[in-house]
Amino acid sequence: MSIAGFDKVGVIGSGQMGSGIAQVCAMKGLQVTLIDIKEAQLEGAKKGISNSLSKLESKGLLGSETASAVLARLQFSTQMQSLKEADIVIEAVSENETLKMKIFRELDEITQERCVLASNTSSIPITRLATATRRPDKVIGMHFMNPVPIMKLVEVIPSMTSSEETISRVVKLAEGLDKDVTRSQDYPGFVINRILMPMINEAFTVLMEGIATAEDIDKGMKLGTNQPMGPLTLADFIGLDTCLAIIKVLHEGLGDPRYRPSPLLVKYVEAGYLGRKAGRGVYNYSQK
Ligand code: CAA
Repeated sequence: MSIAGFDKVGVIGSGQMGSGIAQVCAMKGLQVTLIDIKEAQLEGAKKGISNSLSKLESKGLLGSETASAVLARLQFSTQMQSLKEADIVIEAVSENETLKMKIFRELDEITQERCVLASNTSSIPITRLATATRRPDKVIGMHFMNPVPIMKLVEVIPSMTSSEETISRVVKLAEGLDKDVTRSQDYPGFVINRILMPMINEAFTVLMEGIATAEDIDKGMKLGTNQPMGPLTLADFIGLDTCLAIIKVLHEGLGDPRYRPSPLLVKYVEAGYLGRKAGRGVYNYSQK
């Protein structure tokens, strides 16, 4: 099975985004290798994917396939060398530019020349990541939304140096994964986070100023603007460290004080209250 000439897919980073991307690729018949440096993290990803597939199977959303048939197309590895034969690698590690640059340099060494290198970054410039490689024409942004198996959108971000061929193949791949595509130019935060993160950041400032409780801010935005989750619940869902990293990229990249991180968001991250994944964010999940 191949989509736009992509058959073997590598995904780097087995957090919620990387696991979701690996899962949807395997669901469409692609051979997927999911890489992480931590064995325990990979174990957790396997369990999460398995649970998600079982849910989808029980709703009849896997077509004629079983969850175990999809799982059989997924390999889990701590070795980047396992990506030697990949047709495309999608990087989905945390929002740390130094780490991403290092990974792109390594991928450029390990993978075949024809392999496309995509990043699921939510805000780091793709054109900059491309400079870490000798194939800037094959580097592109492919930004999935969380939870990947449910959310319909992939934001495609060509760098200044991406070739038309790379862009069109990656758009076809996203569509083949049953996603709708929007395109964004390579400017800080692209489109989704350029608009979403200032809203989340403002919600923290409204909370910090004591204008309303967290519950009322979320209830107001959920019921008043028909969003599935209020902005503080959504921030907990995304991860407060990720939200802070993105708002910092907007602040630094655009140089405009309106993107200044809310001091309350900074304080939560310093306290280790990183959201659902930490059991505590704006809300406390350990008792639920
Ligand atoms: N796999 C399979 N099924 C899943 C799933 C997964 N990973 N996650 C949720 N579901 C299913 C649930 O089982 C549930 O199914 P039933 O209705 O049959 O019970 C269904 O989806 C709905 O889930 P929930 O009942 O848990 O709760 P919900 O109705 O609130 O929906 C949600 C959950 C889809 C996450 C919804 O709240 C939502 O759309 N929230 C907003 C998400 C969002 O904005 N994401 C973008 C974040 S920004 C981003 O990702 C980019 C970035 O760079 C930061």
